[in-house]
Amino acid sequence: MAFFDYRDGILHAEDVPLPRIAEAVGTPVHVYSAAALRHAAYGFSAALAPLPVARRAFAVKANPNIALLRLLAECGYGADIVSGGELAHAIAAGMKPQDIVFSGVGKTDREMIEALDAGIGQFNLELEEEGQVLSDLARVRGVRAPVVLRVNPDVDAGTHAKIATGQRETKFGVPIDAAPAIYARLARLDGLDLRGIAVHIGSQLRDLTPMERAFTRIGDLVRTLRAAGHGVSDVDLGGGLGIAYAPDETAPSFEDYAGMVGRVTRNWNVALTFEPGRAIVGAAGLLLTRVIWVKPGVTHPYVIVDAAMNDLMRPALYDAFHRFAAVAPRGGRMQAHIAGPICETGDSFARGREIDAVRRGDLAVFHTTGAYGAAMASTYNCRAVSPQLLVDGDEYRIVGERGTVIDRAA
Ligand code: LLP
Repeated sequence: MAFFDYRDGILHAEDVPLPRIAEAVGTPVHVYSAAALRHAAYGFSAALAPLPVARRAFAVKANPNIALLRLLAECGYGADIVSGGELAHAIAAGMKPQDIVFSGVGKTDREMIEALDAGIGQFNLELEEEGQVLSDLARVRGVRAPVVLRVNPDVDAGTHAKIATGQRETKFGVPIDAAPAIYARLARLDGLDLRGIAVHIGSQLRDLTPMERAFTRIGDLVRTLRAAGHGVSDVDLGGGLGIAYAPDETAPSFEDYAGMVGRVTRNWNVALTFEPGRAIVGAAGLLLTRVIWVKPGVTHPYVIVDAAMNDLMRPALYDAFHRFAAVAPRGGRMQAHIAGPICETGDSFARGREIDAVRRGDLAVFHTTGAYGAAMASTYNCRAVSPQLLVDGDEYRIVGERGTVIDRAA
């Protein structure tokens, strides 16, 4: 189903022509489709339906926009959070505390207290000492913190090094070999209700094999823990499911993913938590921009657009590919570099790419920016954070204001 598509030669978001949005709020602007978000959210839920699902916890880091989180809450989603700020967003969006899980390698005492007071459903412990501190914090409050232990299964996720988390040397989780002993010690702490294991080996995984290998190791660990007399009622399988960014890329379907999970976890007898981010929100957004100049270059011209790496970091940070397209294509094609106005060479979206022919003043988009797009925005070069807009049918509304460029406190 196409939620961003051409009608009479003009790119639309659902029923709204993008030039109307550019006119109303200016560019650059992040545009989301509510229908696309619902489609992915319900599609993922439907694929998981045969499995024993405890919760689908949307990874808020992928897109913390409260309007989008509210929509996901309506679709039955909870949240995977990594900070007090994300906790506040999830609660403000109406997500049920029980459906919130707290991951993250550096939870502060204050953040743990806020999460305990909110009554969240699960803490994912990243190290033993965190369990001891959390146990003490819970005990003085007269509660027991529901926890799982995040394990690093020592699997190469086969993704970009900056977003892989499951290899032997990583800041995340505890090594799988050390997990049984740590689990046994954590199980003795009064302030904890130790329920099981969590795993997440990386993001943008377009091949299910490394995930399957990791989950298989987790299954072995669950058996080992039970053989040692421990209760294991919950396993959190993390997120990481990849999506197609380039036209020639493929990615596993939700059904492929759920099928693999069903096969591997068949005899586990646990409730499963999922933490999808990108796969839910990635395709539900695009970044609308305007061409400022088409500047002659040595090998190819530079298409300089008004969006920059502060709006969409992924190409600069991971050499990520985002499809570029004209809003009203003129018919021709051109070979070009695409860059933003920020004063460093890294502010580049594409090099020597074949794209729709564009001219100064044309509108264009970067596709598939719903995940880790606005979420990673900065104000570098005193650029205002770009607004965010949610389209639903033939209506739209601003769900993120354009930021300011002057710090009044200074
Ligand atoms: N759970 C945990 C513990 C995570 O660390 C992450 C992502 C997720 C779930 C969600 O993963 P997803 O389903 O979205 O792959 N900024 C990078 C991605 C960083 C992902 C960090 N952790 C990017 O733009 O590609």
